[in-house]
Amino acid sequence: MKSLKRIGILTGGGDCPGLNAVIRSVAKPAMTYFGATVLGVEDGFEGLVEGRIRELTKRDVSGIVNLGGTILGTSNKGDPFHFPVETEKGIEVQDCSERAMQHFRDWNLDAMVAIGGDGTMHIVDKFTDLGFPFIGVPKTIDNDLSSTDVTFGYDSALSVATEAIDRLHTTASAHHRVMVIEVMGRYAGWIALGSGLAGGADVILIPEIPFHWEKVFEYVMERSSHGGRFSIVCVAEGAKPADGELVVQEKDSKRTDPIRLGGIGDLVSRKITEATGLETRVTVLGHLQRGGSPTPYDRILATKFGSMALQLASEGKFGHMVSLRGTEVVPVPVKQAILKLRTVPADSQLVLAARAVGTCFGD
Ligand code: F6P
Repeated sequence: MKSLKRIGILTGGGDCPGLNAVIRSVAKPAMTYFGATVLGVEDGFEGLVEGRIRELTKRDVSGIVNLGGTILGTSNKGDPFHFPVETEKGIEVQDCSERAMQHFRDWNLDAMVAIGGDGTMHIVDKFTDLGFPFIGVPKTIDNDLSSTDVTFGYDSALSVATEAIDRLHTTASAHHRVMVIEVMGRYAGWIALGSGLAGGADVILIPEIPFHWEKVFEYVMERSSHGGRFSIVCVAEGAKPADGELVVQEKDSKRTDPIRLGGIGDLVSRKITEATGLETRVTVLGHLQRGGSPTPYDRILATKFGSMALQLASEGKFGHMVSLRGTEVVPVPVKQAILKLRTVPADSQLVLAARAVGTCFGD
């Protein structure tokens, strides 16, 4: 058993429901069973570089299992190895990892639990190589981390997106329209596929299956004359036509991932109207998918992840990420977890099941 007297926690990257449930399940047992001081780094790795930390009390971490967001704050612009610094010449990206490491030493931490997605796990890996005692906990609504069956946050996003599709169904049917809904997910189609399948979308467009415009047009035309006289098109923000490019909302070099996706829903809606004359409307679900309370599934998974993260820290198993395999939470080396993004296999059972019930993927 490793001595755990001072434990740090940080949440990095975009927030998602369940972060507070992890903080609670690391902090409560750490205080109760290890008598440890638990310190929360503010605003993710940005706070680590800038030296912003505060001690968490039992009261801070009580009553937060159902709370969305993160009590610590987060940022997707604070990669210590590529840190945006204001200089006379404007914003310059610099390696500020030494500043972060000095804070780590000054705070005398025995372990740091970093809760985050792909970007966070890459940073955890670099600090691990430099000898710092990090444990990773995988979160993201995108569900795109390999080495875990699922990330917490995904189920909550899925339930918001599914409810949105259910709501669009009634109005689509009443007006005989094509309703396009754009959901998040970055370069993975898990949210679009899961919510599209659960909500009975007629067309699902995901990054892993480049689509052909004509196939989509034909499908919604056919439905408008012979089918339900309306269509629901669920499009992932990272979906792209076989002959086209990703639709990018903005590029920001300060972000860990400089590309912010968005806009494909609008494009799909416009193209369908132009090609078919059908009336279309677009809904961009945006950050509604990340906000609000975690589902019971995410609260439970986050709690299991947090308590396992503390156990790994107590065993000195640093450089590991907790991960769900089947029903068990197990450790995997972070190095393994970051090898590739977990995208939807084009022949996955989910895709095949959707195809079997007549869903069009535009291919
Ligand atoms: O990674 C989570 C996520 O919500 C993605 O699905 C989305 O592309 C991105 O973050 C949005 O980032 P931001 O909150 O910076 O707009």
